[in-house]
Amino acid sequence: MLNPDRFISDLHSLRQFGASGIGNGVVRPAYSEADIAARRWLANQMADAGLRVEVDPMGNLFGLSEGPSLLLGSHSDSQPEGGWLDGALGVVAALEIARASRAAGGPPISVVSFQDEEGRFGVTTGSAVWSGNLTQSAADALTDHQGIPLRDARNAIAEMVTGTVDPSHFSGFLEMHIEQGPTLDTKNERIGVVTEIVGIRDVKVTFKGEQNHAGTTPMHLRRDAFQAVSAFNTLLNDRLRNVVTPTTVWTIGHINLHPNASSIVPGQASFSMQWRDGDADRLNRMEKIIRETAAEIAEKNAMELSFGPLLGLEPVEMDPKLQASLVEAAEAVVPGHWRKMPSGALHDATNVARLMPVGMVFVPSINGISHAFEEDTSEADLVAGLQVLARAAGVHPVGSSPVG
Ligand code: GLV
Ligand code: MN
Ligand code: MN
Repeated sequence: MLNPDRFISDLHSLRQFGASGIGNGVVRPAYSEADIAARRWLANQMADAGLRVEVDPMGNLFGLSEGPSLLLGSHSDSQPEGGWLDGALGVVAALEIARASRAAGGPPISVVSFQDEEGRFGVTTGSAVWSGNLTQSAADALTDHQGIPLRDARNAIAEMVTGTVDPSHFSGFLEMHIEQGPTLDTKNERIGVVTEIVGIRDVKVTFKGEQNHAGTTPMHLRRDAFQAVSAFNTLLNDRLRNVVTPTTVWTIGHINLHPNASSIVPGQASFSMQWRDGDADRLNRMEKIIRETAAEIAEKNAMELSFGPLLGLEPVEMDPKLQASLVEAAEAVVPGHWRKMPSGALHDATNVARLMPVGMVFVPSINGISHAFEEDTSEADLVAGLQVLARAAGVHPVGSSPVG
């Protein structure tokens, strides 16, 4: 039988690795000490549950059932400032379901925690490599914001690596996740059955101007890289207006200003430019506008302009049969309190969809907050999600009566 108390307790245990900040905050970026310690702990839980532990060269951690099975899971790395549920929820729910099913003689269930879903190096890097969406050598050349190449960072997990894991072991993939947005919380709904995941593009942009003295350099002679970023941002917001819809989003979330000192006109600015939408054509049109706007600003402000590699994922639809199983399970567990919805956040499910049918289920995020220490979900909703996921995975009996 599923054990909701053990599931909640495991979530709190996993949170101890990298526990930080206020509330249930976590700092557990890919390949950090906390991430590796968490993977070791998870590997022990998988082994105790009777699963065969395998770790691929990226550090994706699998707990394999005997024989072919459904794969359940998510990721256990975090953002530089993250919450305790983003990714961890799907991994711990998978573990509980695999353990309960095995103990009850139910269907075999395998478990995965993908590596670097949060994109220290790229975009959902671990599942991108496992699925063949990105080659290992292309991934290895990616660098984090400190300039560390993934090739070097993944040495930290080398001791755990057992080899590659064959996707043909799995008949499908189900991922449970927090919504990370306000829809379910504001509508008082308990479960979201995901219909599709939006696409994303991400590129690093660099303006190189001229470093100089902030007191003596006349304004008209400056080639100030921060002023270029500022002008780019303003012009871009204006230019995108005719192309975007109310659900399109774009973000400059990281910036390196060099040398970042009060009395120096900054000579160089490198920043992340990320945009997301459910329509691949719109993503492409936005890319054109972004590149043209940056070129125009570079010209006007006497900057050298360069772009890093364009990273991205295409929008994907969830498998209709898995959606139907999740809908049936949601109606059984929280009758009338669920909806179908798209995902504006990225997930490993996007990559895994290249290999097998995938489905996703959401539980509410309190106040719609995520990628922040304040991220949380009520225990009742966490348990409802666990029950929906188990039922959709064919793990019975799971207590099909409606959840409080
Ligand atoms: C993944 O966490 C994302 O950025 O959506
Ligand atoms: Mn996540
Ligand atoms: Mn995330």
